[in-house]
Amino acid sequence: MSAVKKPAARAAEAAEIDTAAEIDTVALKSGNLMPVLGLGSWMLTSDTATRVAHALSLGYRLVDTSGDYKTQGGIGKAIRATGMRRDALYIVTKVEEDDDGYDATRKNLDELNLEYADLVLIHRPPERGVGEKIWEGLRRARDEGLARDIGVSSYKVGQIEELARITGETPAVNQIEWTPFGHSLDMLNFCRANQIVVQAWSPLTRGKRLADEKLSALAEKYGKSPAQIILRWDLQHGVVPLPKAQRPDHQRENLDIFDFELDARDMAALDNLNQHFSALEKLDYV
Ligand SMILES: NC(=O)c1ccc[n+]([C@@H]2O[C@H](COP(=O)([O-])OP(=O)(O)OC[C@H]3O[C@@H](n4cnc5c(N)ncnc54)[C@H](OP(=O)(O)O)[C@@H]3O)[C@@H](O)[C@H]2O)c1
Repeated sequence: MSAVKKPAARAAEAAEIDTAAEIDTVALKSGNLMPVLGLGSWMLTSDTATRVAHALSLGYRLVDTSGDYKTQGGIGKAIRATGMRRDALYIVTKVEEDDDGYDATRKNLDELNLEYADLVLIHRPPERGVGEKIWEGLRRARDEGLARDIGVSSYKVGQIEELARITGETPAVNQIEWTPFGHSLDMLNFCRANQIVVQAWSPLTRGKRLADEKLSALAEKYGKSPAQIILRWDLQHGVVPLPKAQRPDHQRENLDIFDFELDARDMAALDNLNQHFSALEKLDYV
């Protein structure tokens, strides 16, 4: 099966938000539901269990981690400490581009002390090929119930097309660096057309652009913070942001984005802040 459709054949289903759920969710092409906002955990290495447990108590349901973040143990502890039902939570983890996809998934689950992950991603495209062998490992993990959905991170459109050509399957998710200052609406349209949900990493620019003048003016207009304006812009684009916050006030603030709406003109103004900015070196999927 060749699963790739062109952006023109845009299917918006993947980006439709189900507001009937307790916390809004978006449907993946598998039909599984994913919360529309999550907690990032890169560098959340100090007192991880307490900080993640606090986030869960506030209402976060999605936590993003990876085999190389050193936060999986703490996240597992937080989940057990809260006593929450596993199916009320959504855990995303990642395998490295030189890993065996199946073995690395098992190792991640051991660290998390969980029986399955909701989503397992290839962390970044390998130097050669498009990760087709890792994908086979992730498929096996999914077939055995260790992963409910599988996807990629920081893939370009061409790399997704090539992966789909080789494996006959598109990823459920592409997790990419995505902010008003650095994004690609072409990538978003391609993903929508192929029922691939976009997750935003470093959605707050790692703090580097939160003082931007135009962003601050919008924050004042809506009575919200710059971070909240960015996260709301994500939601309205159908993009799932994963802000990392260890401070309790940041965690709370980043959740408080469901009671206002940016109008079309302000959405366009935020789109127009795009300079392909990256908090790292470069926006790697453009
Ligand atoms: N797939 C990939 O290759 C990849 C790459 C990078 C990141 N990620 C994922 O994406 C997540 C988020 O990215 P990130 O951690 O690089 O950066 P980020 O979320 O853009 O920024 C995190 C920084 O923003 C601060 N912050 C949080 N909420 C704030 C608010 N409301 N107001 C002001 N500052 C606020 C945090 O402070 P405090 O922590 O002090 O509260 C922290 O210093 C990561 O944690 C990780 O899970 C994935």
